[in-house]
Amino acid sequence: MAVERTFTIIKPGALQRRLVGEIISRFETKGFRILGMKTLKIPKEIAEEHYKEHVGKSFYKPLLSYMTSDPAVVMVLERENAVESLRKLAGATNPDSAEPGTIRGDFGVTTKKNIVHASDSLESAVREIDIFFNKNEIINYSDSLKEWY
Ligand code: CMP
Repeated sequence: MAVERTFTIIKPGALQRRLVGEIISRFETKGFRILGMKTLKIPKEIAEEHYKEHVGKSFYKPLLSYMTSDPAVVMVLERENAVESLRKLAGATNPDSAEPGTIRGDFGVTTKKNIVHASDSLESAVREIDIFFNKNEIINYSDSLKEWY
């Protein structure tokens, strides 16, 4: 399977609830390499660009206001089949439908505050990474776990 990069936002509610370590731990134990990571209060224009496919939907304005209300953590993650793998780890958009064992299934309460965003395709991942990261903020590296034991 091809090595891919994907993008995630750990949403403001997860920082407020002190869930960041638990969530990153799930990414790591699933084998994702962290190539980029930062905490930021997402500027309104950036949130608008990121969520532009949802303009006009009933949840668009509340979503924008939530995502810009407090700091979030954004990350570039890499592994084989990264996009699909991260979507599975995140679980269904609505936490009520998300399976136990997934991040949203375990920690999510409402759809708006559903803990994490995960890119829905390789194309979206490229677009979203480009919105949030400069090239020099993404560190490309390979690893070999066995060398560390
Ligand atoms: P996310 O993966 O960040 O992508 C779009 C977001 O919009 C989604 O997660 C949810 O947080 C939010 N969203 C999608 N559908 C709804 C809905 N019906 N009501 C409220 N928020 C929604």
